[in-house]
Amino acid sequence: MSIKIDKKENRITLKTKNTMYVMQILFDRFPVHLYYGKNSPKADLTYRARNTSYSPNYEEYGFTYVPNAEMVEFPFYGNGDYRADALRLRDMTSGSKVTEFIYQKARKFKGRKDIPGLPFADANENTETLELTMTDKFTGCTLKLYYTLFPECDIISRYFTLENGGNGDVRIEKCMSLSLDLPDMNYEMISFCGSHCMERIPQITPLFRGNQRVESKRGASSHQANPFIMLAANGAKEESGNVYGFNFVYSGSFLDEVETDFNGTTRVAVGLGSDNFSMLLKPGEEFSSPEAIMTFSSSGIGTVSRNMHSFIRSHILPAEKYEKRPVVLNSWEAFYFDIDEDIMIDFAKAAKECGADMLVMDDGWFGKRINDRAGLGDWYENPDRFKDGLAPFADRIHAQDVKFGIWIEPEMVNPDSDLFRAHPDWILLAPGRDPLVARHQHVLDFANPDVLEYIKNILSACFDGVAIDYFKWDMNRHMCSVYSPVLPPERQDETAYRYMLGVYELYRWLTERYPNAMIENCSGGGGRYDLGMMKYSTQIWTSDNTTPADRVFIQYGSSFGYPASTMSCHVATGIGSLEDKNKLDFGYRTALAGPLGYEFNALKATDELKKTINAQIDEYRRYEHLILRGDFYRMLNPLECGCSAYCFASDSRSELLFTLLRCGNDGGTDMLKRFTDSLKTGKSRTVPESFRVRFAAAKRNTVYKDMISGECFDGDTLRRGITVNVPKEGLYSKMMYLVED
Ligand code: GLA
Repeated sequence: MSIKIDKKENRITLKTKNTMYVMQILFDRFPVHLYYGKNSPKADLTYRARNTSYSPNYEEYGFTYVPNAEMVEFPFYGNGDYRADALRLRDMTSGSKVTEFIYQKARKFKGRKDIPGLPFADANENTETLELTMTDKFTGCTLKLYYTLFPECDIISRYFTLENGGNGDVRIEKCMSLSLDLPDMNYEMISFCGSHCMERIPQITPLFRGNQRVESKRGASSHQANPFIMLAANGAKEESGNVYGFNFVYSGSFLDEVETDFNGTTRVAVGLGSDNFSMLLKPGEEFSSPEAIMTFSSSGIGTVSRNMHSFIRSHILPAEKYEKRPVVLNSWEAFYFDIDEDIMIDFAKAAKECGADMLVMDDGWFGKRINDRAGLGDWYENPDRFKDGLAPFADRIHAQDVKFGIWIEPEMVNPDSDLFRAHPDWILLAPGRDPLVARHQHVLDFANPDVLEYIKNILSACFDGVAIDYFKWDMNRHMCSVYSPVLPPERQDETAYRYMLGVYELYRWLTERYPNAMIENCSGGGGRYDLGMMKYSTQIWTSDNTTPADRVFIQYGSSFGYPASTMSCHVATGIGSLEDKNKLDFGYRTALAGPLGYEFNALKATDELKKTINAQIDEYRRYEHLILRGDFYRMLNPLECGCSAYCFASDSRSELLFTLLRCGNDGGTDMLKRFTDSLKTGKSRTVPESFRVRFAAAKRNTVYKDMISGECFDGDTLRRGITVNVPKEGLYSKMMYLVED
């Protein structure tokens, strides 16, 4: 077992492959934190009382336990710890929200505890869990803190359950799944901010004294923020230094809080927060928090990314539906809303001629959806466009020898729809307030079980008996006026959370009802690029921005927390003209960073273009095992030098796939430049003419042959670094496929 509960020393030690986490139970009462870092016999596990003035203490323990100054396992509200609290519980009888739980016992078990209704990481034979039980004598509540170890990925996850065993109501008013105290504050926080079409641009900020937060209040993890953050010790680099990583298995509003204090310690917390959440618990009721995860590496930012990647691949993502990921041809950027049966059949033919495996029919096939002003909610085929219905149509698509994928956006409704006309009270809207639209649509109240039932019925009436191989599940606006008419006043702060439970229920329903179909998640591109969505979706549409010079940056940022296998990459109209060989080459090579797809009007493609695309897909198939399952190494930061370089390595390191992409003279398009300038993250984007790239993944004493150029390199030289020259002007790409000779 990797969990050791030492009752004599009152100490609990958790060990993963390379990390160690140690806590102590002080005075049989308070779980305090001793250490999280490298698994080393030299680790400093001394408990240090950190008294300071103006910090209340328990008289009986003197200054050996001062809540505001300790490193604690799980901080409570209102009880002398003034830093960010993880749990705030209001006793509804007295009105008090002073929260205090006292340690009772610890136990360990194989596997994990499931989290009802929410996505959570799958256990395997190595998974073990520590459960700490704490009770509150005043409210009668029992709190169980869980630490689940995924040892081979160096990941520890954190979640809790709270059971109201008392006689009165209580309300959780702040809920953080994870709280971690670190003894120092010499870190830079790496967070990923953005906007629609510019998701997950890394932002690096040194920690300052006080509270710094990354959060979303949008009801979605969002384009603007992402729950994944890193704390990199000053001086840490891609392949060296101490780095922590944190993420949240949830897709709605969230809060990442990082607070440093007068003692120079740091507290990191990840959870639902307090602004967009509360939960009433009646006597006998139990609440389970979503799962948060953390990792540590003493060998750099890159290793933390790889820990996250392998964890997501083996414990989060659904099992692959097909032997190979289908290369799709998607109709959106080709036709937008102007689609019908005949166009789609021709498009399927063109998909086949290009060598693609699947036709994805995007928006525009249902209800009165001829533009974005109508039809959402009316999930039946538009009879003017699909005369014989969907089932024969899907068969005709399959007759072209390609798979069939279809677009849905089940959480939304247009005011101009049969659904909205019949049920105007089925949207999120506060009483007495005017509804605000975004993209001419409202958010359906998924906290209302009737709405969910209706959507299941209308979807099954539409899709049962139709041979569907893939759903693209979209979500194209954020919440406001959050209020559910079916919840009582005292439960209104539960709406956004209950909405997410509804979304997850529908995902599970869709997966079970159509077990042969894979799901690609989308939210105006990568607006819900998170571990909650990844639990049900094999891949995510990375961004609506398909301009390769921008995509380079979006993919770079996304790679910090998420594996390439999740990053749906299309060669699309953002390239400019696909007939322009240079642009096409650059766009395609940029897209070789995740599951490949195409999104352009293939009906107009020349035979030569179709031939080129066939060759591209053949080549992608040769590299796919590395892109989807290899270890990923970032080698150049495009925000610093306008050039991205990275490498996928096979398990044994006998194959290395290297890509270098130079985005243009300043790197990225004007849109990206404006965005990154405002962040001040790019140190300089003057693009040098030669780069030194180091292959940290190369094996020593090994000769590699580049199967593209025929050149040979020895592993030690690759590790020390080789020079790549790039031309002065324009887009440029270089790839090497290095195979052990
Ligand atoms: C969103 C998606 C696009 C496309 C459109 C359809 O913007 O990100 O890929 O599906 O919706 O309306």
